Amino acid sequence: MWKPPERIKFETAVARWPSGEEAAGSRLYSPLTTPNFKLNQRTWVPAMVPWRASEDGDVTEDVIDWYARFAEGRPGAIVIEATGIRDIPSGPLLRISSDRYLSGLQRLTNAVREASGGQTRLFIQLIDFLQIRRRPQPGAFFERFLEVTASHRERLEMEADDEQAVRERLANLEDAELEAVLGPRELEALRHGYRERVTDTHLPGIAALPETLPPLFAQAAARAQQAGFDGIELHYAHAYTMASFLSATNQRDDGYGGPREQRVRLPLEVYRAVRASVGDDYPVGCRFLSDEIIAEGSGIHDACFFATEFARAGMDFLSLSRGGKFDDAKQPKVGWAAYPYTGRSGYECMPAYLSDPQGPWGRNSEPVAMIRGALRAAGFDTPVVSAGGIHSFDQAEALLAGGKADIVGFARQSLADPDWFEKVRLGRGNEVMLCRYSNYCEGLDQKHKQVTCELWDRTELDASDAVLASDGKRRLTAPRWVPRENQ
Ligand SMILES: Cc1cc2nc3c(=O)[nH]c(=O)nc-3n(C[C@H](O)[C@H](O)[C@H](O)COP(=O)(O)O)c2cc1C
Ligand code: SF4
Repeated sequence: MWKPPERIKFETAVARWPSGEEAAGSRLYSPLTTPNFKLNQRTWVPAMVPWRASEDGDVTEDVIDWYARFAEGRPGAIVIEATGIRDIPSGPLLRISSDRYLSGLQRLTNAVREASGGQTRLFIQLIDFLQIRRRPQPGAFFERFLEVTASHRERLEMEADDEQAVRERLANLEDAELEAVLGPRELEALRHGYRERVTDTHLPGIAALPETLPPLFAQAAARAQQAGFDGIELHYAHAYTMASFLSATNQRDDGYGGPREQRVRLPLEVYRAVRASVGDDYPVGCRFLSDEIIAEGSGIHDACFFATEFARAGMDFLSLSRGGKFDDAKQPKVGWAAYPYTGRSGYECMPAYLSDPQGPWGRNSEPVAMIRGALRAAGFDTPVVSAGGIHSFDQAEALLAGGKADIVGFARQSLADPDWFEKVRLGRGNEVMLCRYSNYCEGLDQKHKQVTCELWDRTELDASDAVLASDGKRRLTAPRWVPRENQ
């Protein structure tokens, strides 16, 4: 992952935790009531892919154990990982693209309800993503993947040669010569792996996204409702299709790109289709970016505009992330796919302990406060979820007290210690295992390995309830919390 050049080392520490009494009277542990849903406390576990679904995208026992473990901490809400809406093979990522996934998802909602004693609301994040291929072996790229065109022939002065001869010549060119012969997208396909963009409107499937996506999201949303989820989070963030429509880099000329008003059009149409399928009183919100953190990308003013449009359309909550784009991702190794959290935008999405003077904590807090301010100024009271480097009670409480957020998201901190919410509520904050922001978990995600936390995955491996990862060396869920006086 990219790191700020200053490489200042930060160590997570918390000066003070509240007593049980202080927590009980706090904003963080007060309920939030909206017209469509109620949270028992203003805490939120944002979506995190743990790589535990079956190869077909089905809920497994490991998926259930993972979310039930989070539910034992009884946060206000948990958002289930990005879940695919298209019925296409996509490896061990959860899917909701057909009714055949319903029974697994129902088991999941039941398990979370039971483990949290009904205290935690369960949302599911619905995602669409475009095709991305692994970085090819150069030999295979020139032999098979590259489409030989008239422009290659012309640049190589090989108009009359057969295709095989052109391929062989290309395979033998030096890098600098290749740059003069291949186009930028072909070079990208060679060096990073082929990646579709929403602007590839010469491809019929991409041109048709404004017609195909609203019904796909709407059907997935109806299934989520049927499976017993308490609501839906539309994934409009990071490197995926809907975020790419919102991006200032989206220059489609069919009315769905260019100015902000047109970039937000498909996300609004998707929302309306979802709303029509689930009814007016079912919670639907979205996650999008406070800033893309890429050259030519959307920034905070775009985000304020999008937030106001989403609220005007009737969304029930808005959750803000930051960065996480393919545009500045590092070159992957041959045989690997590009990963959108390896560049500077990736750092801003999941800041780590080697940082700049600002440090890894709360980097998204002020941008989110601005977005909330813009919403309130426009007359909307839509709840806003702020996340990014939050690990202490005081940080979270200050966001709420300062009118900078309505709900506080703890992603890696809840992975490090799913009992954070109960420990702090009971005045036992000093028993919290603090996230180090090492991004060991994110490294596992990048390799598509079962995600665990370095703070607990090698402890009590022989405990009767420990289920081990496929490498046999790590446990898959955090050990049970045993309060100190019982140890
Ligand atoms: C292993 C892992 C998987 C993630 N998967 C998702 C995801 O599926 N959807 C999403 O919107 N964000 C995802 N994120 C980003 C987190 O939700 C969150 O925005 C980010 O970690 C910053 O918050 P934090 O500092 O509280 O961890 C993931 C993060 C991690 C560490
Ligand atoms: S591995 Fe654990 S400590 Fe490190 S960033 Fe992830 S959750 Fe935090």
